[in-house]
Amino acid sequence: MTELLQRGRDYFSSQFGTAPDGVWSAPGRVNLIGEHTDYNDGFAFPLAIDKRTAVAARSRADRMVRVASSSFPGVVELSLDDLDPDGLSGWAAYPLGVAWAMSEALRQEGRDAGRLTGVDLALSSDVPAGAGLSSSAAVECSVALALNELWGAGLDRQELARVGQLAENRVVGAPTGIMDQSASLLGEPDHGILLDCQSLRTEAVPLGFSAAGVGLLVIDTRTSHSHADGGYASRRRSCEDGARSLGVRSLRGLGPEDLPRAASVLDAQTFRRVRHVVTENQRVLDTVAMLRTSGPAAIGPFLNASHVSMRDDFEISTAELDLAVSSAQELGAIGSRMTGGGFGGAAIALVRNDVAVRVAEGIVQAFARAGFAAPHIFPVTASAGARRDC
Ligand code: GLA
Repeated sequence: MTELLQRGRDYFSSQFGTAPDGVWSAPGRVNLIGEHTDYNDGFAFPLAIDKRTAVAARSRADRMVRVASSSFPGVVELSLDDLDPDGLSGWAAYPLGVAWAMSEALRQEGRDAGRLTGVDLALSSDVPAGAGLSSSAAVECSVALALNELWGAGLDRQELARVGQLAENRVVGAPTGIMDQSASLLGEPDHGILLDCQSLRTEAVPLGFSAAGVGLLVIDTRTSHSHADGGYASRRRSCEDGARSLGVRSLRGLGPEDLPRAASVLDAQTFRRVRHVVTENQRVLDTVAMLRTSGPAAIGPFLNASHVSMRDDFEISTAELDLAVSSAQELGAIGSRMTGGGFGGAAIALVRNDVAVRVAEGIVQAFARAGFAAPHIFPVTASAGARRDC
């Protein structure tokens, strides 16, 4: 049994005085490439990481839901009859939001959500929060998988991803896309997950990192980000405005060949936002094609170009993220970019294993020279998606 699993079981017993029916877990993610493309019906290529949230759960006979988290004091409890998406807040909004979103999904299928029974849930996690590694998706997906089984809901993984997204959008109030939950539910060891957010087709693509002697470093800048406030939503609005002005349903309807027309129709800022999304979609496809033909050591230029596009066109990077990326590149990384929604959080660097320690040390020194707080740097590997652990 892994340490997290044991911790999850023990924590459940300490909170609820009995053993759980089972333990489910779901990973955080890093996005290798394809940023702010998901809500534009575009392509993204994330992977599930080896940091997970575990939820130990036990069915109840009544309609109460009780949730505890080892990261926060106290137990929050609410009846399923009182679940109001507008009335949930704080950390408990994530697990309770999933309970609400799943009952909604079942109701929409014409099933009687009034007969669902309550549940006790205890969460423990080793996904760093606020680092842009989708700690919230890890909570949502572990809880969604547990409830799916305890409630006999029978939803498939793509439906569970939509349940997690609905909880995030409606309850937490962050207008995010489907990428994080898809990565957390569909991840596979040593694979990236190519998402087509228009057709919702997904494909696990071998990364070949260990065969090529390369790996991914996460550089958590420890600068905070929250997608429930301004920047993320305003970028999303610009994309929608751009699509409307150009007469397409979403920016997926445009290719690089449409950019000259876009430049003549749009204001300069909206054009830059659109150009990021259009070129980023192409970079995702190019990255996957290059991985297949030449292996991971050849994809660096796409990662680097993605960062430039986020920095200059989408304007979601920060001084800390730019420094993480530029120093990783100067220190010999194959490629580097910020990952996730931006405005803080983490960057990734694809590095040869034999220089990983040197690159990490060099980035720490560069942060010290710039007078920034020390970043938290650690390797991640592509790992299994959400599962029942015991
Ligand atoms: C956040 C959101 C995702 C996605 C990324 C940007 O992680 O949750 O849906 O939009 O930002 O690529």
